[in-house]
This record gives sequence, C-alpha cells and structure tokens, in this order.
Amino acid sequence: MKKFVGIDDIATYVPKTYLELVPEYEARKGNYADSEFSRLRGIPPAKIAKGIGVYQFGWPDGHEDSVTMGAMAFKKLIEKNDLKLSDIGRVFVGTESAVDHSKPNAMFIVGAIERALGKDGETRNYTPLDLKFACAGATAGLEFLSEWTETGKNNEKAGVVIATDVSHYPLQSGEEITQGAGAVAMLVKENPRLLALENSMTTEITSTVCKDEKDFFRPLHRHSAVVDGQLSVDCYLDACKDALTDYRKKAVTQGFVKDEELLTDKFDRILVHLPFHKMGEYAGVSLFRHEWRNTPRFREIEREIGPEPSHEDVKADKEFARKFRETELFKEVFSEKMEKGLAASERTGNLYTGSLYASLSSMLELESQQGTDIGGMRFAFGSYGSGLMFKAFTGTVQPRFKEVIGELDLLKALDERRTDKRRSLSVAEYERLHEKNSGMAESVLPPKNEFVLASIGTSKVDEGYRYYKFVD
Ligand code: CAA
Repeated sequence: MKKFVGIDDIATYVPKTYLELVPEYEARKGNYADSEFSRLRGIPPAKIAKGIGVYQFGWPDGHEDSVTMGAMAFKKLIEKNDLKLSDIGRVFVGTESAVDHSKPNAMFIVGAIERALGKDGETRNYTPLDLKFACAGATAGLEFLSEWTETGKNNEKAGVVIATDVSHYPLQSGEEITQGAGAVAMLVKENPRLLALENSMTTEITSTVCKDEKDFFRPLHRHSAVVDGQLSVDCYLDACKDALTDYRKKAVTQGFVKDEELLTDKFDRILVHLPFHKMGEYAGVSLFRHEWRNTPRFREIEREIGPEPSHEDVKADKEFARKFRETELFKEVFSEKMEKGLAASERTGNLYTGSLYASLSSMLELESQQGTDIGGMRFAFGSYGSGLMFKAFTGTVQPRFKEVIGELDLLKALDERRTDKRRSLSVAEYERLHEKNSGMAESVLPPKNEFVLASIGTSKVDEGYRYYKFVD
C-alpha cells in the first residue's frame, strides 16, 4: 500500500533583534521615508521597500549564530508536538552558514538540545548531518528524510529537517539590503497532518536541474558571500524555467497533466525560494510567461502590452517582464497562488535555506487567518541553491491540516518584534554585530529562555571550539 510521507509540522525562529531598513507603516501606505540605515547608506527608501520589497531584516544578537537559531526552532518543534527525544531518529540541517568546517551544525544542535531537554545519551542513536547546497540544502534534507521514511528504514522514528542561516554580505555593499537571519524546523513523518509529498518527491514527478555556476558563493576564508547580483537572478530564473519544463514532461508521461493543459493550472499554490519579496514576483512572471506562451491568455496579454520581444534583446525583455507583472491577468493569478507566501520575507529578510519553508509558513498562516479550506490543495515548490541546483516538487495538503496551521506563528513573531522598540537595532549596534563574524560580541538584549554561544575555546585542544548552552 502506498505510504503518505511528508511535513507534519513546522516551527520557525527569528532573532529577537532586527534592523529597520524603511519605516514599514508609512511605506505600506506608499510613503517612503528614510530610516537611519537608508539615510546613512544613501539608498532611496523606495528602492528598498518597493524595488526590493523589504522593510526590515532580523539580525542575530551577540550570542546567536546558525547553531543557536537552529536549536531554537528544533526546541519549539519538540515542545509544540510533545515529542520525546527518542521519537526522533535523524536530524538533517541545511545551512550555508555552518560554524565549523568539520563538525556539522546538526551535531552542535543535537548536543545542545540533549543537554537542555533530554537525559544523557537520549540522542545516542541519532544520525545528525549537514547538507550543503547553498539555499537548497534543507530541500535535499526533506527529500532524503522522506525517502528514509517511505522505505520504512526509519523504524517508526521521525525525521527532523532544520534550515538555519545568516544571510551575510559586506557592510555598505549593494547586497546588504538583502540580508536576514532565521531558522525553520520541520517534522517529517508517515501520515503527516500537513503536507504529503506523495506522487512528487518520492516518486518520479519531481525535477532537479543543476549547472556548475559562480553566481553566488562563499570561499572558506570569508564570512560574507561573493555574488554577481544580476547573474544570480538570471541563473535562478533560467533554472526555474528548466525545472518546470522537465517537471511538465514527466507529469504528461505519468498522466498528471494532459498535453493541452497548463501545469500551473494544476497547482493551487506555488512557493519559491525567496531571497527577497521582489524575487518572488520575478519568479512568478517567469513561470506564467513561460507556461502561457502560445495560449489565448498570452495573446490577451500581448494585446494589452505589445508583442513579446526576442530574448536576445535583454533591455526589451526586461521591460516586457515588468509590463507583464502589471497586467490584471497576472496580478489575479499571482495574488491567488503566490502572494501570501511572500508576506513574511518583507520582514525576515533572506533566510537562505529557510526562505522557502518560511514562505510556506507565511502562506499557511494567512490562509488560516482567511479561513480558506486548503484541504486537498496541491502546493508546488521551487527550491533554488546558487552554484546551482533547482528542485521542483509538489505536495498535497492533508485532511488534518487545521490541527497544525492555526498554531504556526512566524507572522505573529514578526509583529511582536516590530512593536518592541528595544529590539530595533541602531546602525552602530547592527554594524558591531555584523562584524563579529564567527566570533562573539556583547549582546544587545540579555539572553533569556534561549540557546547561546557561551564561549569559544582557546586552549591547544579546543582552539576555536564553540560551546553552547541554554539560558533560562
Ligand atoms: N525607487 C523604486 N524602485 C527602484 C528604485 C527607486 N529609487 N531604484 C531601483 N528600483 C527598483 C528597480 O527598478 C528594480 O525593480 P524592477 O526589477 O521591478 O524594475 C529593483 O528596484 C532592483 O533594482 P536593481 O536590480 O537595480 O537592484 P540592484 O542592482 O541593487 O540589485 C540584487 C539587486 C541583485 C537583488 C542585489 O541586491 C543582490 O545582488 N542581492 C544578493 C543576491 C541575491 O539575492 N540574488 C537573488 C538570486 S540568487 C538566490 O536567490 C540565492 C540567494 O538566496 C542569495
């Protein structure tokens, strides 16, 4: 009998402290006022809020890093599901901000969790692993843990995928406004309450596209990524289109979609990797433009905005994409299928590996607020990792979804963070925390009920070793 395997629950964590890029309340009304940051950097606030689509991003305090954030999300997942540590068998971490070249973040996180929650040795038989492929590492974790569960090799243990990252670019660089930090933990089980990945990742209707590229990378000696911004956007969109084409071919062969049908019509919701809000719009335009070509819908759009230019004419092509984004036809579909997934990213900033899954939480939370019956809906996912790999897969919302989505609280955490002025960093505080790199820095907010990086070893046998603990 076919097994249903997938995401049972999600827990998110964002740092308590954040940097305001543009005053959000005014910007939402179309008034783009300067923040301390935009004024000091000389960046027009309209570019940040409207051009990129971000108002603020979370930034780790002095005691935080990708391990403490991952442990926070994991602890929340355990507590909200009343799990015993012995209920879990594997913990896979997707990260591109690992704290050690040898020891995985997963082991640091499992160790910290066992010390905080468990009895000694309760995680002794775990498999803790990091998976690296830029922002797509957590997706690989989800795929491997789904397969592990489906084959029954899990011995009824649950798998946990944790995506945790600090998106870090040099101070005063053009990319600085696309930073962010946070973690997402997901429980992978048989008969999940939320989303079954049946007929998708664990069978043939899934698509992976890869290419050896240098759009974005972080050499071992650097704390900040090196990026060719425009190339990274182009690589993402090209890979997205190729993955959709490949997925479509498989879907037609398997009878999921007929030759004359549009694949995107079969997807009720579409979620994509989200380095920033506008990237979701670029991806939406690219997807629908590609799918609708040679259909009556496309002809209607061309009647409205003029004929599609040749792709060779880069300037005209970009202008066409911009106009496509403004058409009623696109706006309607985008608003129904994608927009709710983009809401949190305006305030989290880029979470790298966690972005796609924070977007899932954002989508589910807003659907829950609107009381949408999403049971049975098909969600499509596009996971991009620079360098590059793109994975397209789908999942179906399960009948028990209501038990889970009412408890998701990423948007609530962002609301709470925004309303507490002590959490808003001055530019001087942010820059000090930014430049701690992999070291430690004095905390802006004294840690409470959270994991902290307690010390870094200095002796011959523990030089650079990171010690973590939970502070009540
Ligand atoms: N008022 C309003 N809008 C403005 C404006 C102003 N004063 N100035 C510019 N804009 C608009 C532009 O028109 C443009 O919008 P449209 O595309 O709708 O026209 C938007 O702001 C962005 O403008 P630019 O492309 O000129 O911005 P940029 O040169 O600063 O580059 C970026 C933007 C490429 C995202 C850069 O910030 C960057 O390199 N970020 C890091 C890399 C990244 O996130 N890449 C994404 C794909 S790779 C990936 O997804 C993996 C990952 O997580 C990193």
